[in-house]
Amino acid sequence: MDKLVIRGGNRLHGEVQVAGAKNAALPLMAASILSGGVTKLSNVPDLVDIRTFSSVLAHLGVEISATDHRLELDASNINNDEAPYDMVRKMRASVYVLGALLGRFGKARVSLPGGCAWGPRPVDIHLKGLKALGADIDIDRGYIVASAKKLKGASFYLDFPSVGATVNLLLAASCAEGKTKLENVAREPEIVNLVRMLQKMGVEINGEGTPTLSIVGSNNLAAVEMEVIPDRIEAGTYLVAAGLTGGKIHLKGASAEQMSLILVRAAEAGIKTTTTQDGIIVERTGELHPVDVETAVYPGFPTDMQAQWIVLMTAAKGVSLIEDTIYPDRFTHVAELTRLGAVISMKENIARVSGGNTLIGAPVMSTDLRASASLVLAALNAEGETHIRRIYHLDRGYEALEKKFEALGANIKREQDK
Ligand code: UD1
Repeated sequence: MDKLVIRGGNRLHGEVQVAGAKNAALPLMAASILSGGVTKLSNVPDLVDIRTFSSVLAHLGVEISATDHRLELDASNINNDEAPYDMVRKMRASVYVLGALLGRFGKARVSLPGGCAWGPRPVDIHLKGLKALGADIDIDRGYIVASAKKLKGASFYLDFPSVGATVNLLLAASCAEGKTKLENVAREPEIVNLVRMLQKMGVEINGEGTPTLSIVGSNNLAAVEMEVIPDRIEAGTYLVAAGLTGGKIHLKGASAEQMSLILVRAAEAGIKTTTTQDGIIVERTGELHPVDVETAVYPGFPTDMQAQWIVLMTAAKGVSLIEDTIYPDRFTHVAELTRLGAVISMKENIARVSGGNTLIGAPVMSTDLRASASLVLAALNAEGETHIRRIYHLDRGYEALEKKFEALGANIKREQDK
């Protein structure tokens, strides 16, 4: 297993190319199932999660070729409707094949994803919504077994604007007979990317970017070309790196529109952001200020930036409160950050950071994707050397992380962990 060895203290500056968003690419890949042709996706990040999902699709019979951030997915010979446990447990978003298979073929057998490092992550809303569209759903020995002669358009209110449930229901409703109205859907930019692709494929969808979507399904969807939007969480992670180290980074390809609240909070913390023709320049020259954040569904502050924000706040003199309302238990990084000398106490789902003291390098362990990113950030700002173990989490979601940080001036190496 690899580990990262980081010697902190360097001011980071330069340009970084923001990759395509993993969380946008996965739904677009699932949408390829709905057409009987060859879907072409561009700006696809080169990540373990993308390869994991490619193997799920290949298992179904989708023929996939990948070259230089492009994927071609040929869905003309799908011959299997099962996504097995060993694949789904590696990546929860595999459950997206449920809505797509059910839509195109009227049946699917998909392993229940189970929990994750920071607690339970149910799929009840996905299933309730699919039932509303007329699917019969059973749970059989850990598998969701879904079938429908023909899905029928319906009205459905999501009890929570879940990203995953919105994806699954959009995919299914795109093939349903008649009109579907989905209320209280997720409005994340990644959802809008999917809606635009489905519209291009021939589905009539209104309301993208709002809490209500109306969808008129079709049983003849075209295979299309689509570009994956930039990764706002990767961009946000490099923004925090600039803020922490008093640096200046041009986030090339980042979208200010998709990151608006992150940029607002960054400005409050003392990070200057300037939108350019092809990205955003982020820079800190003065002191960092403590800024409270509360995670919420988009356009709120993303839970996927919570761990990184906590690290930023360890460098701001004073007290800040960071609350996660989406995943109340998503704080496994706090104990590891404490090992580096961060002063953080927890009360339920709120982290209280007393910032301003110097962090000191130490051995730490990654626990999940964003927690790992937060440890890298903390190490970049710590005195001495930090060794981060179990970094396979990072490879799931950050393309060429150590190369990008090295190019920005960080002292960072990947080594074999003996
Ligand atoms: C997606 C993102 C993940 C991000 C999360 C929240 C992908 C691949 N992953 O995950 O990076 O952290 O959005 O922005 O895009 N819930 C239910 N029942 C359900 C579904 C969800 O109770 O059927 C709850 C969850 O437990 C959680 C909340 O809703 O508390 C948000 O979950 P959801 O939006 O579904 O997250 P994911 O799609 O899994």
